[in-house]
Amino acid sequence: MTSNEIRKKYLAFFQARGHAVIPSSPIVPVNDPTTLFTSCGMQPLIPYLLGQPHPSGKRLVNSQKSFRAADIDEVGDTSHTTFFEMLGNWSLGDYFKKEQLPWFFEFLTKELELNPKRLYVSVFDGDKRMKAWRNNLAQPLTPDVETIAIWKQIFSEVGIDARDGYPTSPEGIRIFSYPASKNWWSRSGEPEKMPPGEPGGPDSEVFHDFGEELNLHDRSAYKNKPCHPNCQCGRFMEIGNSVFMQYQKQDDGSLIELPQKNVDFGGGLERLNAVVNGTPDIFKTDSFRGIINILENLMKKKYEEDSEIDRAMRIIADHLRGSVMMMTDGVLPSNKTQGYVLRRLIRRAILYAQPLGLGTDVSKLGDLVLPVAEIYKDAYPEVSKKAAEIKIIIKEEAVRFGKSLERGLREFEKLGEDQLNELNAFNLFQSFGFPYEITEELFRERGKILDKKKFEEVYENHQRLSRATAAKLFKGGLADHSEQTTKLHTAHHLMLAALQKMIDPSIRQRGSNITGERLRMDFNYSRKLTGDELSNIELFVNEKIKANVPVTIVGMDKGVAEKIGAQMEFGQKYPDRVSVHIIGLSGDVESEKAKPSDYVSAEFCGGPHVRFTGVLGHFTIKKEESAGAGIRRIYATLE
Ligand code: ALA
Repeated sequence: MTSNEIRKKYLAFFQARGHAVIPSSPIVPVNDPTTLFTSCGMQPLIPYLLGQPHPSGKRLVNSQKSFRAADIDEVGDTSHTTFFEMLGNWSLGDYFKKEQLPWFFEFLTKELELNPKRLYVSVFDGDKRMKAWRNNLAQPLTPDVETIAIWKQIFSEVGIDARDGYPTSPEGIRIFSYPASKNWWSRSGEPEKMPPGEPGGPDSEVFHDFGEELNLHDRSAYKNKPCHPNCQCGRFMEIGNSVFMQYQKQDDGSLIELPQKNVDFGGGLERLNAVVNGTPDIFKTDSFRGIINILENLMKKKYEEDSEIDRAMRIIADHLRGSVMMMTDGVLPSNKTQGYVLRRLIRRAILYAQPLGLGTDVSKLGDLVLPVAEIYKDAYPEVSKKAAEIKIIIKEEAVRFGKSLERGLREFEKLGEDQLNELNAFNLFQSFGFPYEITEELFRERGKILDKKKFEEVYENHQRLSRATAAKLFKGGLADHSEQTTKLHTAHHLMLAALQKMIDPSIRQRGSNITGERLRMDFNYSRKLTGDELSNIELFVNEKIKANVPVTIVGMDKGVAEKIGAQMEFGQKYPDRVSVHIIGLSGDVESEKAKPSDYVSAEFCGGPHVRFTGVLGHFTIKKEESAGAGIRRIYATLE
């Protein structure tokens, strides 16, 4: 059975049971700036799960293009991918557990002809920590005995005596009870992690058992622990999740029952495909076979000959497929948001391809676009339509990456002996895409042995920070325009002007971050600033504050803005018409004729600013430090 057949069967099965087939939403959510990607089928349906009537009715089914950026580092094994298709069916306050569970079981055993003996399930065991919320709920979060009873009935109808129990003594158990960490689903996980407004509920997962005979458990890191569906040894594969979405988090941390009890089901198409075809390796199914075949030809290596090469092939195959699907939905490589994730995917694919015989002609990776277009030619014909364009973008990105590696090499050469450390190795990786192995070799040639553990620590630290930032983004909160942030924005412009006027006119901003408490600016400069230089910068800014000069926003053509010397933000692309913030415009009121001597600062900027600098308060530099090769960082406050 092919993935196309499985998708068709699923849609038809639920259509026959009164469901309307709805199209997949784009990978980039429409009208939802709080999250970068559509990561599951329910995401575009949240308003309807919360009670708004859906134009297609109360029973819906589809296959949703989904992307999970958090999984990038896990790709490389046989079951993780960044992009995947999620088969989903929904009851919007219509049917519930008694219909959903038998239907999915019927689909698996009758339509896909899976052996029921190979199926194991999990249910929610309640959560005793949730006392505080019980008062708000008609039903406290107790073990889901109703679901246990339904599964027993379903299994007994196919002659299986399904016993329930716990993963600690898994012998003879078919229905496993787990706590909220495993069997509660919301987009942000367990109840305590849900932000106010978020819907969620207990769930029940179905797993396929590849069997003891494969010895997967004995060969895994989990071999000394009892094997059960969630043990991660690889023996069991999760193939579907029925979420009983009936709660919503409140501002006070409590959960209330939604006015309607919903079902939100999701099952990964690629995993179902693997199971139907009797392999725990999704890269051996038709979802990936076309890409792997081309990689085998390009690399002149066979899949399953060498575990390191297999890993690289899986990473390249996943990342290329993910990139193609993202570009089909309009994402372009860039340094921001979705475009940054896309750039990372393409660059990682190139890096894994290079040492494996693909040489420097990375544009060959463009050959992998066609098998992706081919596999989706019926389900997502838009991929074929854009295939030629996507091939060109990949090629351009490969060329740009090559140049970035060259630039990184020049920065590396500028590093002094005392700067050959793990932090700078990480900066080379982060700013120019240098893989650790290459950096290690460069460093070794200059007599410095890198400590991989330390490098990984720096990396981990960075990951933690970006996860925290992503979590903040998820929580909502568009740009922060609070009063103090607004003031710090204006101070940021003044400080850049001070750096250029007092230190070096070729200084450019390379990064920036403003919170309610302080501003942070990264800029290019080759050495540490002296105490005197920092005092001069403070003096300059505080003088301009005292002078209470106006901050004027002027709309002008990009060309004119460049002509008057307005500063652009690093790595930003601007439209033809831009807003320029000019601080202390004195000369010509007709700003388009302004010269740098007529103003204190002019920057392309969409940020919020004060009207006059006098309100800023006292400007103090708190810290100056290195932020990587040739990059300095200043933290400053307004008090
Ligand atoms: N929304 C549920 C999931 O992603 C079905 O697992």
